[in-house]
Parts: sequence; structure tokens; C-alpha cells
Amino acid sequence: MTNTDAPSDVVEQAEKLRKELAHHNRQYYELDQPEISDAQYDVLFRELQALEKQFPTIASPDSPTLRVGGAALDKFSKVEHRQPMLSLDNAFSEKELNDFEQRIKDRLKSKTTSIEFVAEPKLDGLAVSLIYQDGVFTQGATRGDGNTGEDITPNLRTIRSLPLRLDDAPAGRIEVRGEVFIDKGAFEELNRHQAKHKEKVFVNPRNAAAGSLRLLDSTITAQRPLRIIVYAMGLIEVENTLPETHWDMLQWFSRMGLPVSDQSETLSGASACQQYYERMIDTRDSLPYEIDGIVFKVNSLKQQQDLGFVSRAPRWAVAYKFPAEEATTQLLSVDFQVGRTGALTPVARLEPVFVGGAMVSNATLHNMDEVARKGVMVGDTVTVRRAGDVIPEVVGAIVSKRPDDAARIMLPESCPVCTSPVIVSDDVAVAKCSGGFNCAAQRREALKHFVSRRAMNIDGLGEKLIDQLLERHMVNRPSDLYSLTKEQLLELDLVAEKSAENLLNAIDSSKQTTLGRFIFALGIPEVGETTARQLAAHFGDIDKLAAASHEYFVPTGIPGIGKTRAVRIIETLQSLPQQDSDLVASKPALEKWLSEHLSGIKPAEIDALLDRFPSVSSLRSITSADIQSKGESRVEGVGATMATFIVDFFNHTDNAKEIRSLLGAGIQWSTSAGTEAADAPTDDSLAGSVYVISGKFTNMSRDEITAALVAKGAKVTGSVSKKTTALICGEAAGSKLAKAEALGIEVFTESALDKLLS
Ligand code: IVH
Repeated sequence: MTNTDAPSDVVEQAEKLRKELAHHNRQYYELDQPEISDAQYDVLFRELQALEKQFPTIASPDSPTLRVGGAALDKFSKVEHRQPMLSLDNAFSEKELNDFEQRIKDRLKSKTTSIEFVAEPKLDGLAVSLIYQDGVFTQGATRGDGNTGEDITPNLRTIRSLPLRLDDAPAGRIEVRGEVFIDKGAFEELNRHQAKHKEKVFVNPRNAAAGSLRLLDSTITAQRPLRIIVYAMGLIEVENTLPETHWDMLQWFSRMGLPVSDQSETLSGASACQQYYERMIDTRDSLPYEIDGIVFKVNSLKQQQDLGFVSRAPRWAVAYKFPAEEATTQLLSVDFQVGRTGALTPVARLEPVFVGGAMVSNATLHNMDEVARKGVMVGDTVTVRRAGDVIPEVVGAIVSKRPDDAARIMLPESCPVCTSPVIVSDDVAVAKCSGGFNCAAQRREALKHFVSRRAMNIDGLGEKLIDQLLERHMVNRPSDLYSLTKEQLLELDLVAEKSAENLLNAIDSSKQTTLGRFIFALGIPEVGETTARQLAAHFGDIDKLAAASHEYFVPTGIPGIGKTRAVRIIETLQSLPQQDSDLVASKPALEKWLSEHLSGIKPAEIDALLDRFPSVSSLRSITSADIQSKGESRVEGVGATMATFIVDFFNHTDNAKEIRSLLGAGIQWSTSAGTEAADAPTDDSLAGSVYVISGKFTNMSRDEITAALVAKGAKVTGSVSKKTTALICGEAAGSKLAKAEALGIEVFTESALDKLLS
């Protein structure tokens, strides 16, 4: 490019800045390895912007300054695709996949036993064509009808993962095709932002991506979290010889800086393709973006050419679709289910519908806030979603199909099971039955939880038996289990002599447990297995745990008070007239005084404040650091909310009594080293490391592995993240393994585990 009126040093500097910015852009958006801070990036960016403004002739189509978008258009101009953009044939079963391979073999008159394919996720976004002229991105278009699309170049330039200039590109024209999409997480965040600013909320990531790409104002597109992955070539006119396989072509794209899928694999034959497909059904949920199937493409480009096309689709590729995760059906009625902690969950009864590979007739509506947000009514045609092994949920209603007699969903005033009043508190979305152990539903769920495998592990006590025991009032609370007699059990339906004995033995052996299991079995709201173990490790003693205060768990500040409120409280306290405060001496008077002057303060917060600052003078001297909640907990994983649940639980006299009864019945745990997380690690060789365990093991149970790791000072968590040291992987480890592999995290097999623990 020639620049007549810009000094050569300016041209050079601009070029240098563009290169640098492109490099940092790639480090950040594609490789996730930024080398400079955002602020440093901004400095370079602004310098380039200023130069381009001062010397307009140095503007270049690959300038990173174009990434923020430009002047709004009236309409998009049309682009003729010199090579049509095709679609794909679908397959929905293993048979159809086998047929696909067979047709290819027949056509190629191939004697080989299997065809080589490349497998790629079928991204659920929007197909685009990108043209690079001499390595510079010059034009991008939508698919349109396959022959003519729309020129959306300025919008595509805003996508950070799309290179504006290719590395080491040959001279000439390179056209690539790919999919523009939005990550699931970024989509949620975008919708939160849209809702907050009273802007359009999108139904799904695909619609959000499509809407964002078709905006006439590219400065808005620039604010949308769009990504791109390329997967095919269009018309290529370069001197160089082209790769011979689809796989090599993808590698070539990648070397030039184009983002390609990291999930692609080469596979030989339909049965390997079927296995890949099944594996991806499990991996699917752990991918950051939505995929709706797998695309299998014949790897050899020569074979692709020989196979050619039928109407709009190539013979050499197929889209093997996943079972649809969403379907529409009618909402017949709504019932409220009472959970272990009394939480009322609205459950939609549906006209049965096939979705996510199964028949669904019930789906959760989560809570009343969700019902309101989704605007669902009884009688509506609703969208139901069932993804992986997640509980089916109602996503929303199709309002245009709403019948005249549609009825609002109402929260019952009393518990549908025990008729105790239903309590709705302002700060938690869930409504709760106030019946506690007096509610049959809560008793039943609490018992089910207590005996479950990960809690007290009482084998042979299934749902049906629990129901009978409750109905006959043989058992009202968990501790009653320990005084059951054989005679009583024999009264129950379908319990024979032998199984009664087995059950009594199982109940008896459950008495020897671990503190972690016991805490988990108590069913404290929000306290899961991992937290229970951490509590056990921290306190090592149930009485110490029961005596711990909220302040103990979350030591600094007052729970729920953030920085803004801390400052406001202090300002108010300090601005009050001296003589006013002089009058206040007793605690009740202080309470009243505070609630009058500090608008919006909650009684619990006043209590917490006065606990630590019991006089007016001390109140006047507090600083923001004294009361601002740090949210940091003394016990890993126990934040302010969970601390409240724990403290409330142990303060409840019924619970305290039940714990005494359980211990009185003989429940005990070993306190010797190595058997329980409660014990301080004697060997801390694994301190600082974080493990995740997944799958089935032959020689040790998962609990034993956990105990052994914890005993060496390691931490064991439930999900794989960047912080994970390694995944301990047994047989049939599903999505966790895939995630670990995706994040490049080390994976240990059972045999490697022996070495780790020895
Ligand atoms: S290849 C000639 N590969 O699926 C083949 N398409 O149903 C052209 N898609 O319009 C497409 N992921 O929008 C191909 N890895 C992938 C894909 C993919 C998603 C979309 C694309 C296409 C549609 C066809």
C-alpha cells in the first residue's frame, strides 16, 4: 500500500502497532495466554487509532482498530458466492451412518474395508464465508440462499478470534467457511446485560449470534461476544499446491491463524464414527458452546471430488444429529413437590413428549421466581428441555398459542402434604413448608437422604420400605431406625425373615461411620458431601461444629454488608448529633436507635453489629474494614449463606435432640489417623494439590481414595477446572475425563494412583 502524504516513519510505526496488536489479540482470544494487561493493550490501540485519524491514508483493511465497528449501514449489499455454500444431509441413527459409509464405498468402488473420516462437532451457529486476498481479510458474507448472501464484512471484523491478516498466507485468494457462534456462558451474561438495560433478551445462543451478525451498526456487533471456528474451504486461487486431505487443510488453516475445532479427529470407518458420536453426547455439556451433532467428512480431498454432490449437499459428508434437547408440548397442571428441606418446587405435568431421547411427562419449573420470569401458565404450549442427565425443565411458553382459559400458577398458602403454612422470605427465591419433621414429605426425603449410599449407606432400605415405615409410624425420624426390631420389620409387606435380618445388620453396621458422612447425612440445607467432609476435617468433632458461630465461619465484617452499605452505615453513624446518641444506653434502646437511623438494615445485621460494637462510642469509631463482609471463610466452601444454614440447623432444638439420639443409638466414627478427613494430615506430601475422582475403581472405593488423598494433605473436589492438579480416572469416567482432556489436565489411572499414594 502506498501512502503519499504520511511520513514513512508513521507508516512503519502503524504497521508495527498492527502486528503487535494482532499478536496480543491472538494470545488473548485464541490461546488464552495474554502477555500484556488490558490497559497496556489499550495504550497501543489508542496510539494506532490516533495515527490513523491523523493520517487517513494509512488506514488498512486489516487494522485492529476496525474491531470496534464503524459507521452504520442502511442495508447490506449482496454477495454472489462463486462457489455455492451447501448444506448437509442428516443421519439420525447408527444404521443411517453405516448406510452413509456403504454408499461411499459403493460409489468409489473402494475395496478397502473402511473409509477415513474427519469428525467435527456440528456447531450451532451461523455459516459464513471469509475471503482473504493476499492474506488480508477483505470480505465476509452470510450463507443466504447458498448462492447469494449478504456482505457483513464490518461485523465480521469485530470478531476477535477472526484474524484480519493470515500468517504466511500465499499470494492470491483464499476463501474459508466457518460458523459464527456465542459461548453458552457468554450468552447468559449477554442476556443478563440485555435484561438489565431493558433490551431484547435472546431465546438461545444461536439466535443471539444471528441477530448480532445482522446488525447494521457494527459498533453494537463489536460488543457481542461472537466467536468463529472454520471448517471448510471455499474457492481457493493460489499458486501453491493444496493439501491432500481435509485434516491437513484444517492444520494449514490453523497455521495461518484461523481458529479450528480442538475436538476434531480422524477416524477410520463408521463404527469408530459411532463411538466418537457416543463419546461426544457425554462431552457435549462440558463444551463451552452448543453443538447439535457431529459432522463426518471423507478425509481425502481426491475422494471428496470423486464423490461430488447431490442437489444441495455433498455426498462426502453427513451431519449425525444428536437427539433434540427441546420439544414443545402442553402444560396440563402444576403440582408442588416438597423437598428434604421443605423447599416447594413447582412441577409441570405435561402431555407426554419425546425429548432428549426419552419420553417426558414431568418437568421442573424450579421456583416461583422462575415461573414469573418465564411467564408460563397452565394450559400453555411450552418448550421443554432435557439435556444429558439433567432433570427436564420447562424453558418457556409460546404465548401466541395461549388458550383463553389459561390459568395463573399460584403458590399454595399451605403445604400440599402437611398443610403447615408456606413461608416465603424475601432474600431466597424458594418458598418453604414450615412443617419441618412434622411434614411427611420432609420426613420421607430426610430419611431417604440419611440412608443413601453416600450418607449412612444403609443398604436395602428403599423408597417403598421407607414409605411403609413412615405410614405405620414405626419410624418418624432417622434415629428411630436404630431401635427397629425384627418383629416390626416382618409386619411390613414383602419383608421376609432373611431380608429383615439383612436390613437390621445393615442398620447396625452403619453405626460405624465417618464424621463427614454423618454430617452429610444430617441433611443440613446446602451442605453437600464435599462441604460435609471439609467441616469434618476442620472441626473433627460434632460438638465443636454445633457450637461454631456465624462469626466463626465468616470472621470479618457483617454478613451481607458489602462495601457500599458499609460506607453508608458509617457515614450515617458519624453524622448523627452527639446529644441524640448520648441518650442511648441499653441494648434494646440501641437496637431501636439503629433501626430508626439506618434505613434498610436487617434485624440480624443490627444484632451482629451490636455483638461487636455494644456502645454508641464504639459504634462511632468503626471503620469500613470492620463491618464490610470479606466473604472469606475459615472453612473452605462455607460462605456467609451456608454458614447461616449450618448455624440455624444446630440451633434448632429438634435437631440438637435428634443428634443426641443418633449418638445415643451408638453411631460413632474413628478418630485415628488416616481413616477420616477429620484428622490432621500426618503426611502432607500432596499439600496444595487438588484432585477430582471419576469413574469406577476395582481395588478401592471412591471414598477410600478420597480419604487417602486427604490424609496426604490434598484437596478433593467435585468438578474439573483449571485449578485441578489431576483427574483420578476409573472405568467409565464420562464428561469429567473429556473436560480434563480439553483443559490439558493430567489424568491418573488406578495403577498410577497406587504410586501416588504409596
Ligand atoms: S461443513 C459442504 N462443518 O451446518 C459442507 N458445517 O447443515 C458445508 N455446520 O450450513 C458445511 N458445523 O452452518 C460443516 N463442522 C461443520 C459444521 C457445519 C456446523 C453448519 C453449517 C452448515 C450446516 C449444514
